[in-house]
Amino acid sequence: MASLEVRRSPPRSRRQLEVRSPRRDKYSVLLPTYNERENLPLIVWLLVKSFSESGINYEIIIIDDGSPDGTRDVAEQLEKIYGSDRILLKPREKKLGLGTAYIHGMKHATGNYVIIMDADLSHHPKFIPEFIRKQKEGNFDIVSGTRYKGNGGVYGWDLKRKIISRGANFLTQILLRPGASDLTGSFRLYRKEVLEKLMEKCVSKGYVFQMEMIVRARQLNYTIGEVPISFVDRVYGESKLGGNEIVSFLKGLLTLFATT
Ligand code: GDD
Ligand code: MN
Repeated sequence: MASLEVRRSPPRSRRQLEVRSPRRDKYSVLLPTYNERENLPLIVWLLVKSFSESGINYEIIIIDDGSPDGTRDVAEQLEKIYGSDRILLKPREKKLGLGTAYIHGMKHATGNYVIIMDADLSHHPKFIPEFIRKQKEGNFDIVSGTRYKGNGGVYGWDLKRKIISRGANFLTQILLRPGASDLTGSFRLYRKEVLEKLMEKCVSKGYVFQMEMIVRARQLNYTIGEVPISFVDRVYGESKLGGNEIVSFLKGLLTLFATT
């Protein structure tokens, strides 16, 4: 297979880059999808490009929840193109929520680090080498992308969506003081065993999962590094964040406030 040949005899430039990222490390990307037919080929291409250029060992795990738009067929084609050692399909029958999609994907991850990100191009893979650098620099358990620090930012969201995100972060900061700047974001890198431990502790099923993970991480004294990211609103398709996700966020927040 072509990708194996590349790994056996890398060109000189790639060999130099590999010195910086030890051979033994492997990064498993969890990509949850629900109606991401147009976005999936682009995000996978960008991921493959970013990993191969930096000589990083990786696998991409796609967790599709029976998307009516046929995302799964696209994923199957990508598996054929890039090889089943790089692209792993772990579909589920129906839409069961973002939090449990990560838990499902994690069962199949073989890397010692796991990267969680959205599949709709809002999270650009170009930031991943920065996450890895940050992790190594501070030997962090978690590296979280942040829209709310340094050069981080949000592009393309309307005022309502900005207020929802800021409000969720603000409320959580006040009630739980978790000490990270972006609590609802979902572009993160975890040590695998840390993510496993956190998943055991987390009770939420939907979007609120991201926030609970950081709150639990603080309780367990895990260290968190932050990398500013620019979050760009999706071009194709629609956000799956609806009113009931906002209600579950508030419920989850109050539960954590009352129980932690
Ligand atoms: N498998 C699966 N099942 N995937 C899902 C589901 C689900 O039930 N719901 C959403 N997804 C996938 C989407 O296809 C996308 O890849 C990713 O999860 C994020 O969903 P979006 O619908 O694009 O979320 P968003 O852009 O509104 O929200 C983003 O910002 C929030 C606030 O920071 C995400 O990054 C959220 O995780 C984040 O909380
Ligand atoms: Mn999105």
